[in-house]
Amino acid sequence: MSELAIFGGPKTRTEPYPQWPVWDQRDIDAVTEVVKSGQWGGYPYPGPRTAELARKFAEMQGGDYAVVMANGTITMEVALRAAGIGWGDEVIVPAYTFQATASAPMAAGAIPVIVDVDPNNYCLDPKAAEQAITPKTKAIIPVHLGSNMADMDAIMELAEKYDLVVIEDCAHAHGARWNGRGAGTIGHFGSFSLQSSKTLTSGEGGILLCRTPELAAKAASIIDCGRPHALGGGPEDYSQEFQVGGNYRASELAAALALVGLERFPAQAKEREAMADYMDESLSEIPGIRLLKRDPRHTTRSFYQYIFAIDPQTFGMEHDLLVGALLAEGVESETGYDAMNHYSLFQPQKSKLPVPNAFPKYFDFENMDLPVAERACEHEAVWLDEKVFRAGQKGVDDAVKAIKKIQKNAVELNAAAEELREKYR
Ligand SMILES: Cc1ncc(COP(=O)(O)O)c(C=O)c1O
Repeated sequence: MSELAIFGGPKTRTEPYPQWPVWDQRDIDAVTEVVKSGQWGGYPYPGPRTAELARKFAEMQGGDYAVVMANGTITMEVALRAAGIGWGDEVIVPAYTFQATASAPMAAGAIPVIVDVDPNNYCLDPKAAEQAITPKTKAIIPVHLGSNMADMDAIMELAEKYDLVVIEDCAHAHGARWNGRGAGTIGHFGSFSLQSSKTLTSGEGGILLCRTPELAAKAASIIDCGRPHALGGGPEDYSQEFQVGGNYRASELAAALALVGLERFPAQAKEREAMADYMDESLSEIPGIRLLKRDPRHTTRSFYQYIFAIDPQTFGMEHDLLVGALLAEGVESETGYDAMNHYSLFQPQKSKLPVPNAFPKYFDFENMDLPVAERACEHEAVWLDEKVFRAGQKGVDDAVKAIKKIQKNAVELNAAAEELREKYR
């Protein structure tokens, strides 16, 4: 009989990894309190819990102004609009990210210009970004992917040299620090998602850190149907200007959940970081595994996904086979995103989106050359879920044991590759 669980052998990890999100009586009490208060929604903005969340989150990241909103996509659209970026402006985004990083500029009328990532950390490559800058470039959105941070020193140098707005996409980077500074506080804006899989969650939600009180006031206005808000994103203030806006407010119910999550966050982050250090040590002995480079300026790592790379030749198989087999062994993992130029949803012929149809030359995906992102997405990258890092040393040991077992049985797995790909497509 096969040793591998994917072929009916015994699973390496039989007990499930800890669930996410974590909840206890405090969450129930917090939501009950909101229900009883009668102020469930986000109007008038900001409600008391939303304001408290903005204050506490900004404090945790080390930023000055935070605006809480509906999700971590609208945060980026609002940032661009607050900075006056719109129709026909170019916004540089990395090729390896969730589609929201490119759809947000399009929602603001701007054109996402897709550039390759750095093989050392899979985040935006500052050199590739510089080559893509034109007189129309107005902003750059580095994504802090998985558990890594983009080189913020190089990106801020570019911003200064070419007068660009920087929006850090921190959907994966709650709590992370670069040279001691919180992710999202280095650029002009920091965009955070509180969607249910994220390491701080309210089910759905987003927080935008803003560098100035004027930008925060504009952002608060844009998400509150254009009502003018006080400097810093405080209450309505009719001495300020109206904006064109929509309703992207966060509800008080969501803010209440995030506030409880914030109480748990530091201990969870610490636990994940310690276990990730242990994972680094354990994986570094396996032939064919390449750990992403740990930049000494990345002073606090946060772990939404722990990403490592395999060299398929040396490791013995492609990443999709490893992940398929890992899942069967009970280890929560995935191959991650597709390279952005493989997202057919933005193609002008397929979408009726105004930006791709007005500027089709930027969406000629077949002729884009993004070798690092394509190699990562198609062959190399393996993502281990944050849950693996909240199950003590045994959680890590089980994952490593499963990886070694799968590697040992590479011949059997490769022989069934075609069939498996067909089955799990
Ligand atoms: C890198 C990245 N950016 C943006 C988002 C968008 O966040 P949301 O789902 O809250 O809109 C996500 C995740 O969902 C993400 O992973």
